[in-house]
Amino acid sequence: MGHEAMVTMSIYRNPDLDPTQAEEPFDYSLRPQRLGEYIGQEKVKARLEIALKAALRRGEVLDHVLLFGPPGLGKTTLAHVLANEMGAPCKVIQAPALEKKGDLAAILTNLEPGEFLFIDEIHRLAPAIEEMLYAAMEDRKLDILIGQGPSAQTLKVDLRPFTLVGATTRAGLITKPLHDRFGMVHRLEYYTREELGVIASRSAQVLKVEMAEAGAEAIAKRSRGTPRIVNRLLRRCRDFADVKGEGIITHDIAEACLKLHEVDELGLDGLDRAYLEALCSKFRGGPVGVRTLAAALGEVEGDALEDLVEPYLMQIGFLDRTPQGRRATEAAYSYLGLKTSDGPLFG
Ligand code: ADE
Repeated sequence: MGHEAMVTMSIYRNPDLDPTQAEEPFDYSLRPQRLGEYIGQEKVKARLEIALKAALRRGEVLDHVLLFGPPGLGKTTLAHVLANEMGAPCKVIQAPALEKKGDLAAILTNLEPGEFLFIDEIHRLAPAIEEMLYAAMEDRKLDILIGQGPSAQTLKVDLRPFTLVGATTRAGLITKPLHDRFGMVHRLEYYTREELGVIASRSAQVLKVEMAEAGAEAIAKRSRGTPRIVNRLLRRCRDFADVKGEGIITHDIAEACLKLHEVDELGLDGLDRAYLEALCSKFRGGPVGVRTLAAALGEVEGDALEDLVEPYLMQIGFLDRTPQGRRATEAAYSYLGLKTSDGPLFG
């Protein structure tokens, strides 16, 4: 691992396309603050709008919300939007950062009335901490153990009303008791090209950069359904326009910039291509397990493939996940310029 691992990873992965990469600080300004500014996810928005209005009308807190879907689709943004709509602050924590029960107890007992608590990667909560959340979510109560051994006592603490927003890329890893304590469960979908184009134009306005419609379309086309990638590519195109052009993101400027960054027509990067090449050539189209594929690719974890690479390849019809393992589709072969007879599936 260490240095070597990082070098290997960089061969595969274009950071401009990696939706799990932390955003640059000013990206915050690109985030919509209100539901009306949030583009796409129409069904989720319609359901949330009703829940928000009802909670506001009754003077109650919003029910706990679980958001799931691939990285970069706006789960964190949506949590902040919900808090803003309720006129409440929002605390953000990463589930793995909660190591001890006391960490969660301290956070929960310090929440303001009505405050939102956003727990990212909630499927990674330690079991003891997850169990503590059950009573907190359901009865707004916390059992705190004081002392040790035979003299230990449980103290019941009442919590102020709060809304928990949980986010996960892995709905399948959420336990049933936790899942059942969310009043709403919403799945975020990949965005359409049109929606991504609108997001690109909105972000360009926020960044005060002039962009032709064809420039927005070029970015949208290569952003693999993900707003975070739109915003990242937009910044690269803005740099390119400032240095190589006249500060305007035209179609040609966007195309030249995306070519420089080796983002292909479908928005696939080196890791996606390495994955498909291994699956189609080395494993003759599958079926093959994700861990085996990860091992063949070198320094990349099966989890990273499941979170980052596979969802989009399935979405565009290049990959099937079957009980026997991963299988390449005919479309994947033609994308790579390989004959399907190279694999056993279509021979
Ligand atoms: N920026 C990132 N995601 C967005 C969205 N869904 N709507 C508007 N702007 C965004």
